Amino acid sequence: MRVSPPHRSPAGATSSTTTSGTTGTAAWHPAWLPDEALRPLGARGVRLLATGDDPVVTTVRAEVDHAAQTAGTTTTPARATLALASDALAVPGLRAAAEHALALAERPGLAGLLGAQGFVVADDEGALVVVAAQPRGLLAGWHHLVRTGGDASGATAGDLVAHVPSQAVRMLDHWDNLAADSPMGPVERGYAGASLWFADGRVRDDLTRVEHYARLLAHTGINAVCLNNVNVHARESALLTSGIEQVARLAAIFRAAGISTYLAVDFAAPITSGALRTSDPLDDDVRAWWERTFADVYATIPDFGGVVVKADSEGRPGPFAYGRSHADGANLLARALAPYGGTVFWRAFVYDHRQDWRDRGTDRARAAYDHFTPLDGRFDDNVVLQVKLGPIDFQVREPLSPLLTAMPRTRLAMELQVTQEYTGQQQHACYLAPLWREALDFRPWGPVELWDTAATDPDARTVAEVVRGTDALPGGLVAVANVGDDPFWTGHPLAQANLYAYGRLTWDPTLDPSALLDEWVALTFPQADPAVARTVHALLDESWHVYESYTAPLGIGFMVRPGHHYGPDVDGYEYTPWGTYHFADRDGIGVDRTRATGTGFTDQFPAPWRDVYESLETCPDELLLFFHHVSYSHVLHSGATVVQHVYDTHVAGAQAAERMRDTWRDVRGLVPDDLYARVAERLDEQVRSAAEWRDQITTYFWRKSGIPDPENRVIP
Ligand code: GCU
Repeated sequence: MRVSPPHRSPAGATSSTTTSGTTGTAAWHPAWLPDEALRPLGARGVRLLATGDDPVVTTVRAEVDHAAQTAGTTTTPARATLALASDALAVPGLRAAAEHALALAERPGLAGLLGAQGFVVADDEGALVVVAAQPRGLLAGWHHLVRTGGDASGATAGDLVAHVPSQAVRMLDHWDNLAADSPMGPVERGYAGASLWFADGRVRDDLTRVEHYARLLAHTGINAVCLNNVNVHARESALLTSGIEQVARLAAIFRAAGISTYLAVDFAAPITSGALRTSDPLDDDVRAWWERTFADVYATIPDFGGVVVKADSEGRPGPFAYGRSHADGANLLARALAPYGGTVFWRAFVYDHRQDWRDRGTDRARAAYDHFTPLDGRFDDNVVLQVKLGPIDFQVREPLSPLLTAMPRTRLAMELQVTQEYTGQQQHACYLAPLWREALDFRPWGPVELWDTAATDPDARTVAEVVRGTDALPGGLVAVANVGDDPFWTGHPLAQANLYAYGRLTWDPTLDPSALLDEWVALTFPQADPAVARTVHALLDESWHVYESYTAPLGIGFMVRPGHHYGPDVDGYEYTPWGTYHFADRDGIGVDRTRATGTGFTDQFPAPWRDVYESLETCPDELLLFFHHVSYSHVLHSGATVVQHVYDTHVAGAQAAERMRDTWRDVRGLVPDDLYARVAERLDEQVRSAAEWRDQITTYFWRKSGIPDPENRVIP
């Protein structure tokens, strides 16, 4: 694990204030909320119509004051009004907007939730009006104004524009451990230093930086955080019991930002944290233990969000040990949480990590679907099944997890990985919003052109619509965070864009990744030379495809160094129990997942994809080796053979990384020096690593296939 850099003031950061209501020397980069980003709004003048001492209203009040101070405009007459509907109703000019906000809030179910968190914007004869029904919506409205600089943004005169989040669940999971000596370091798969809130086995004393973090998340639309690693060890397990007072300090900070707090819990907690000898979900003492435990939790944190559970996965305990199902396990916790309104996020990442590599019939890709589809309809209403985007594990390219299509009677959340475990570990620039958008836009029942013409009433939903769920079964998005106590939050400063874009996509999954970069640049580098935005686009727009082009090809995945997962090792996992194989031999490569001759995984998809993936004729090139074992000379739809594709893409990918490094030089002197230097240093490493990937992958394919590169670019 890398040691976190010492705190210092990054060039360009102000020494006055970076967190609302808190002054002091900035020891970290302000990310997308530097004081300058508030200035246009502060200069416009904002009047707040919201009474009471609700923590979120108090935050909005502090934000409004801070923006005014930043702009030096405390006396300017307000040209924007921010109001809670209940207070706005008293003002004749605001009544229409207030009534509209209240109408939204009164709708039942999911729409009611949207009402609680959304807001309406109106242009009242040149004065901007933002009205929310609830404090969380008021805060979202404030951040909308910050982002748009106080422009009406969409509201034309006399018009009311409602802004409501698409997804009810907009969550970030932190894989933070309590101390640096935890088995996987301070943050599992963390590439940005230590935990923002845990150190030396406890919650840090000084949580000033967490206040700023909560503010950054609130700006993007995040409404829930899980504080600790899903691999819950004994020390972290105690957070739920003896550590709950410490957790309460963090919950208070997130509460003020409109964000609910969750803990990851150990399914065996009745044994490890209690004095029981079993954690059997059908045991009365176990049930009573969880009930007592949550009673204590809610006595301390009345609005505690609930729990995240990784059970029967990679060695974690679970209900299988007692011959019970995952519905039994999830419902045990759900029933103990229900009286308080808490929710269980139950992870579907369940597979055999001790499989025999000699056995070609067992397919890890099948596991989640096989385990969970028989349980559809058996989970309580306060259980959300958390399903990774792909069926294997956050690879640079995977098909959608078919489990997401097969649980119509279960609340679902799709889990993404913002932390770049398999996408360059924040050493490589890899902007992931295009990957997420592709998954969110995917139509599991086929795009119109693939529909069976005889089909009546075809299901046209996108994945974003599937996980959003219904009024009765609302779901959404969860992602693993990429932050730590690094001065730039994310190690690679450009990886901030991934966190920003994730949050914004949870609010609106139809946002354009390229436009999100513009937003991020405009906020993070206010008043910067236009060359900064141009350069960030040139570097990041295509960076996911660039990363894909020099790493594991055609959807085959892995080929990473075992354990830490950085850099190439083609056979690193080939003869291990982890279930991630490529099956290369002298004739060909790829996993036969067809139902005709392979593992039958294609069968888990609805039509038309089950047939599209099954057939070599129609399987998309980028997923070819995920679904098929083919010869090296197999001709792709692109016209190239598999082996030639590998040679060409890897050479081009490594060259593209060099161009990215050169591009960055255009902004020397236009961004803070230390940020410039940090990115430059990471790009040097990306160029080195891309060349290493290129050489190992191309040489491997040449040695296995004996087919030379006509241009002699491969190391023999
Ligand atoms: C990956 C990752 C682990 C993590 C696991 C999970 O396998 O390498 O560190 O614990 O995912 O999602 O639970």
